[in-house]
Amino acid sequence: MKFPPGFKFGAGTSAYQIEGAWNASDKGISIWDNALHNDPNLVSDGTTGDVACNSYHLWKEDIHIAHELGLHFYRFSISWTRILPTGFPNKISKDGINYYNKLIDGLLRKGIEPVITLQHFDLPLSIQNLGGWTNPLIADWFADYAGVVFSNYADRVKTWITINEPHMVCDLVYNFAILVPIVTEPWLGPFLCNKNVLMAHAKAWRIYDENYKQKYHGKVSIANNPIWLEAKTEDDEDLAELAREFGVGRFSDPIYSEEGGWPPAIEKLMIDYSKKQGFPYSRLPLFTEEEKKLIKGTYDYYSLIYYTSRLVRPAHEGEEPGPWFINGSKELNVILETDPRWPITDSSYILINPEGIRRQITWITRRYKNVSILITENGLGTKSAELHDTARIRFIQDHLQQILLAIKEDGANVVGYTVWSLMDNFEWIFGQTLRFGLYHIDFTDPLRKRTPRASAHYYKSIIKHHSLDVPHPSQVTRELRHSNAGSSKFSLCTLIGLITLGKLVSNSL
Ligand code: BGC
Repeated sequence: MKFPPGFKFGAGTSAYQIEGAWNASDKGISIWDNALHNDPNLVSDGTTGDVACNSYHLWKEDIHIAHELGLHFYRFSISWTRILPTGFPNKISKDGINYYNKLIDGLLRKGIEPVITLQHFDLPLSIQNLGGWTNPLIADWFADYAGVVFSNYADRVKTWITINEPHMVCDLVYNFAILVPIVTEPWLGPFLCNKNVLMAHAKAWRIYDENYKQKYHGKVSIANNPIWLEAKTEDDEDLAELAREFGVGRFSDPIYSEEGGWPPAIEKLMIDYSKKQGFPYSRLPLFTEEEKKLIKGTYDYYSLIYYTSRLVRPAHEGEEPGPWFINGSKELNVILETDPRWPITDSSYILINPEGIRRQITWITRRYKNVSILITENGLGTKSAELHDTARIRFIQDHLQQILLAIKEDGANVVGYTVWSLMDNFEWIFGQTLRFGLYHIDFTDPLRKRTPRASAHYYKSIIKHHSLDVPHPSQVTRELRHSNAGSSKFSLCTLIGLITLGKLVSNSL
């Protein structure tokens, strides 16, 4: 139950989801600012990220809770328009630069390593107005932004993520318009975006590699969030493998494979399918040899995000698969299904299958030559705001157990784990109705009080003992409940809970 020496534990957040202060100082307008100010109905409870957890002002609180948990690292993202108000490098915001300087220095003073994502779903509106991720010039605009960020923080920040979840940014956005920018264009949208994201990542990686790597020895990756795809029956194994190549291979092979470029089977399939649809070219834009070379090898580790799984089977006669990836793929003629054994969560697309994380890790390990893997997100969203979050504890425990198996039984090189999220935050289209936090946020309180949940105590104990061999989650919550009987004050309850947990832990040692 022990984690390997050096294995690191962290928790994550992202700028738009926590910072608030959408127009503080000279910050420019982002696509989420713009979309939610124009149409509050995009979000289920009509909230926005205008204030969120108010981390722009309460960053000391964030450092405090990260320290209270004993985190080795804290993953947060930088708001592009806070650093570059116009989106371009003609103007650099002093206040924006200072904000992240304070956060980085504050974390380091507490011995917490900052892990920075450069772009987490939010883009400058100026760049979206020019086509966003579908305009190939975005690769240079992103590289300009990355260059400014690296030049300010590379001396202290050693772990970087260029872009969060291109799978969502490209496939979910352009096929379903569920996330901002609300643009549906399933013909070319997902695939132009796919190529441009990879080009942007590669250019940023090369800027770091050429200018900072030798001096600071940092690591840069891109955060991929595959849904683990399990064959429904043994006969579906080849199809499931093709679907994995379509899902995660399209965002990883060009970077991590020895040959570079799209997964060959997917490249061929898209050429043929596009022809059938009357296109004189592939909808998946081909790489030139030069582009292939530019992207290939632009990694220092694999940033892996895992939440859920699906079963893969061929579409039956007369069955029309929807666009990738919610229930299948027209291109592959596959249907994605849920397994009735996987419990459904309050976040409707997330069904719990902890074994999926092990299988996904093993798949990456085999395909990309035992690359070192940092799990950069994993967590449970609940509609309930309760502090005794047994389900979240179980979720973390079960996934960590599978990660340990991947390391110990399958030889995977997993170097760390990140809970999503450090605290409840603005959960995109679900607003404040879906909570992922180890810490509860009181969104009615102007001070956005941060209160630890039972899962925070549990995670803290895992970190402290570097082991899953800590009091059983149900024991932790039972003890917390018992201690809290008769009290309605959260802060008191959790304090007592903490003390009880401390006692339990020391008794069990
Ligand atoms: C995203 C987070 C989001 C989380 C939970 C991830 O895909 O990176 O921003 O809050 O999922 O939905």
